Amino acid sequence: MSELSALIGGTGIYALDDTELKKETITTPYGDVTVERTNDLIFLNRHAPNHIVPPHKINYRANIKALHMMGVKRICATFAVGSINPDFELAVPVILNDFIDYSSGREHSFFDEIKSGVGHVDVSVPFCPILSKTLETEANKLGLKIRNGGVYASTNGPRFETPAEIKAYRAMGADVVGMTLCPELPLALELGMSYAGLAFSINWGAGMTPSIELIHDGVDAIKEKMLRTMINTLYSTKNIDCTPATIL
Ligand code: HPA
Repeated sequence: MSELSALIGGTGIYALDDTELKKETITTPYGDVTVERTNDLIFLNRHAPNHIVPPHKINYRANIKALHMMGVKRICATFAVGSINPDFELAVPVILNDFIDYSSGREHSFFDEIKSGVGHVDVSVPFCPILSKTLETEANKLGLKIRNGGVYASTNGPRFETPAEIKAYRAMGADVVGMTLCPELPLALELGMSYAGLAFSINWGAGMTPSIELIHDGVDAIKEKMLRTMINTLYSTKNIDCTPATIL
C-alpha cells in the first residue's frame, strides 16, 4: 500500500488478525490516541480497548486528527447498527452511501475556531465511491452477502430509540440506525481523507419487535469476512486515487 490507510473498528470488531501489529500513541491537540499498526495499515478501535468509551463520549476529533497526523489518506470503518427498513435483513452488511445526522452536543468540526479558518465541507458524496465499489467487489470474492447502498441515521445514544423515532427516521429515508457515524465521517472529510462505511445490523429498530433483541448466531463468521473485505479493499485500491471531499 503506497498511501497509509486506516480501518476503524466499531462494536464487535476490536482487532486486526495480524501478528505484526505494533501499538503507537499519537498526541493530538485534542488528546492522546492509541492505535495499532503495520507498515501501511492502521487499526483504530473506536470505543478504545475493552469497549470502555460509549458513543457520545468518543473523542472523535482526537481519533481523526491522529489518523491525519500519521498520514492516513483513506479509511474503511465498521458500525454495528439496527435495521429500520424491513428490506434490510439482519446480519447482511450494508455499504453506506448517505447519512442523516441526528446527533447533538458532540465536538463535530475542526472548523470551529476563527484561527483554523472558516470551512464548509461538501458532503454531496459523503462516502468514497471507489472504496465503496471495491468493498462490494471484495465481498463478492469472499462469498460475503452484502448490500450496496443504505442511509444511516446517526443518533446520539447511548439509549436506543423510541418506536416513534424509528418511524420518523424511516419516513425521512434512513435504512439503518446507529450512534457513531457522526461526527466521525464529516471530520475525516474535513481533513481531506476518503471514507467508506460498512454497517452490520444486529437488531431490528425499536418498535419493529416487542423489545430490542440482539442477534448472536453466525455473527462471528460474518464479522471475520467483513474485516477481510475491508483489508482487501484498502490493499486493492492502493494505486487508485480516491478523491477527497471539497472544502468550500
Ligand atoms: N439503534 C442505535 N444504535 C444501534 C442499534 C439501534 O437499534 N443497534 C446497534 N446500534
